[in-house]
Amino acid sequence: MCGIVGYIGRRDAVPVLLEGLRSLEYRGYDSAGLAVIRRNRLQVTKTAGRVSDLRDRVDGRSRAPVGIGHTRWATHGEPNEVNAHPHTDAEGRIAVVHNGIIENAEQLRDALTDRGVKLVSDTDTEALAHMIAAEAERAASLEEAVRRALRHVEGTYGLVVLDVRHPGELVVARNGSPIVVGVGEAEMFVASDVAALVRYTKQVVYLEDAEMATVRATDFRTLPIDESGRRAAGSTVPTTVEAEAGDYELGPYQDFMRKEIHEQPEALRRALRGRLDDRFATARLGGIDLDARQLRSIRQVKFLGCGSAYYAGQMGALLVEELARIPSDAEPASEFRYRNPVVDPDTLYVAVSQSGETLDTLMAVQELKRKGGQVIGAVNVVGSAIGRECGSGVFLHAGPEIAVASTKALTNMAATFAMLALLLGRVRDLSAAAGQRIVAGLRALPGQMEEVLAAEPKIAEVARRFAAAEHMFFIGRVRGWPVAREGAQKLKEVSYVHAEAYQAAELKHGPLALINSSMPSVVVVPADELLGKHVSTIEQIRARGGPVIAVTSAGLPPSLADAVIGVPRGEPELEPLLLNIPLQLLAYHVAATLGRDIDKPRNLAKSVTVELVQGQQVRFGRAAGKRLLAPHDFAGRGAARAPALGELADHLQPASVLVLAACLAEPG
Ligand code: AGP
Repeated sequence: MCGIVGYIGRRDAVPVLLEGLRSLEYRGYDSAGLAVIRRNRLQVTKTAGRVSDLRDRVDGRSRAPVGIGHTRWATHGEPNEVNAHPHTDAEGRIAVVHNGIIENAEQLRDALTDRGVKLVSDTDTEALAHMIAAEAERAASLEEAVRRALRHVEGTYGLVVLDVRHPGELVVARNGSPIVVGVGEAEMFVASDVAALVRYTKQVVYLEDAEMATVRATDFRTLPIDESGRRAAGSTVPTTVEAEAGDYELGPYQDFMRKEIHEQPEALRRALRGRLDDRFATARLGGIDLDARQLRSIRQVKFLGCGSAYYAGQMGALLVEELARIPSDAEPASEFRYRNPVVDPDTLYVAVSQSGETLDTLMAVQELKRKGGQVIGAVNVVGSAIGRECGSGVFLHAGPEIAVASTKALTNMAATFAMLALLLGRVRDLSAAAGQRIVAGLRALPGQMEEVLAAEPKIAEVARRFAAAEHMFFIGRVRGWPVAREGAQKLKEVSYVHAEAYQAAELKHGPLALINSSMPSVVVVPADELLGKHVSTIEQIRARGGPVIAVTSAGLPPSLADAVIGVPRGEPELEPLLLNIPLQLLAYHVAATLGRDIDKPRNLAKSVTVELVQGQQVRFGRAAGKRLLAPHDFAGRGAARAPALGELADHLQPASVLVLAACLAEPG
């Protein structure tokens, strides 16, 4: 979705901005633009096309030390050149790029029109440029002008402001839409995503929600947008980003989903590195700040996440029950947050999210905290809202995941939960020998995954054979059940083939009626104590004429199914991680056969940060002048209170909640 980049420093801003925008292309966009200051004048270049078109148009004759750029995904107004960012005031003093949605844009635009301002675009962002320009005439600094203008704004934003009269600085602000400052030597970068700046610097500072910053070439300072003094300014100590510029490039691959599927062994090695303890046959998870006594006092573990993160949570719940013998389950965070849950102080809640920005999961965390729940995060993106809100937890170390379909993040979630289960087990009744078996099993997984990936041509051939199917069942039992659910989700998401997951034993209670020769079933068959049952499921389906693709670690004979895809045998508790890989490849190759836009499936976005209520976006960040979301960092900083359900109910009308809308899902 939309992308922001800004630069100030010793280089020419234009190539830096263009390169930054190119790195953000993967998010999807429909128009692009940039603004620089040259010889005390603002120069704006826009296109309704690609970043390469912008490159052709831009005037590169002389150096510009400061500038801002944007890739836009239309929300207010058509995708055309006029609506593309940056937007400026009438005089061409101020230029603004903005991600997010200003909900009172109509009011603000009307007020400006009443004052005689001529608006040229249909966007919410243009109003901001005019408002900041008006404030700048009266304010002592650009920072102050932006702050004053934002007092009138309701909605979400990540924004960067450029002022011809203050060419030595950029002002940025964040409320519900990420902004990161990249620290260089005598140069600074700003962006909505580290992808735009890892090429230049690895030292970054993530702005908190409700925070702004003035960025100069040699320094920057952060401050709260709300000047009441109730909130401290954010930290300016940079953290080092793990990502490399190559993580955002396709390299030899045609799409990111396939690239990321193949990155799994390496991503998994990263997640395991330094976390397996041979001596005590346990795991070390530094982000979980609980001693043995506290770990022992946990009575239940509950995983909360959405979509694939929820299925990973289901895998985690099984692992915790098996290895630690603690009752455990998983629930979609999107349900949890709406159902007034009973929050138990002796339960460990685990909020699971690749992006760390999923609104449903974030709201579930806030509800938990408000009720005194003990919640940790399992998050991939460092500096993201859920990680900060949880305050403690584990990073997944999967590296940047760009395809909408989650693959390597899910693998690292499941592996991380295996380590959590091991840790919890070893302070209870899991023997050292059993712990050693799991440690060795985890160590073996990356190599075993490489073996599965080497079988891709065979899996692709199976995918081509079955790609014409209109529907597919994914069947699993116990350890195979979350794998089947995730497999069905992946197929639906990227190929648009209707897929349903069923627990094997549930087939006979209804769905068996649907089995016929045009309903293939993918049956997940771990080599576990239930093998006889799994085989009988296959026989039942085939007896009714249903084609079966068996995905198995049990070395089943080819005659047992219409296609048998084998994976190496692992430790039984860990086999879901291996059995999941062929299902990713199956979904990928069905989608490729059907010519789908694999990395950007229709109606979906990589992170779902808003929702629609009767056609309107529910704002998060502010409601009726009050903050709804309360950011916290690892030190517990961040003050505003979390929302009460009652407050949210003023904004959410459950009966009319429509869809998590994809094209608006990561607004900008
Ligand atoms: C996964 O393939 C999906 N795109 C989706 O279900 C995703 O897992 C879900 O939206 C949660 O995202 P998160 O992990 O970033 O919170």
